[in-house]
Amino acid sequence: MSASRRILVVHGPNLNLLGQREPEVYGRTTLAEIDAELTHLAEQAGAALESFQSNHEGALIDRLQAARGAVQGVLVNPAGLTHTSVALRDALVAVEAPVVEVHLSNPWAREPFRRRSLISGIAAGVVSGFGATSYRLGLLGLLAALEA
Ligand code: DQA
Repeated sequence: MSASRRILVVHGPNLNLLGQREPEVYGRTTLAEIDAELTHLAEQAGAALESFQSNHEGALIDRLQAARGAVQGVLVNPAGLTHTSVALRDALVAVEAPVVEVHLSNPWAREPFRRRSLISGIAAGVVSGFGATSYRLGLLGLLAALEA
């Protein structure tokens, strides 16, 4: 990444299956399509973007630790870890850069256990419920926050 604003996009567990997994909930857009769109949007805004997906909490934390001092913002869909992971929250705080949380679905309109996010309290903003558009809106919000 070489632009002056570098954004890390982090996708949590099972998001590699986007397009195949519960499409009625998460839509038919694949993760590769989302990443390509975000890369394009970032380029248009003069920013550089790198994406990382893992099904492993520790791998996500390692990637975030590597981002310390190297990125200006983080866009994250923590997936199921949203509702459980203090460690992921701590790693996001440790990046010391604004974090925007996104969800394809609207967790508030689903099972009660999805109504708690351990991440929202440390996020600059949250976008939920718009499918792949949540990512686009989240990136625009993050870029705007970096301009402010
Ligand atoms: C999700 C919502 C989570 O509750 C769920 O575990 C996911 C995806 C979303 O993008 O809607 O895996 O983060």
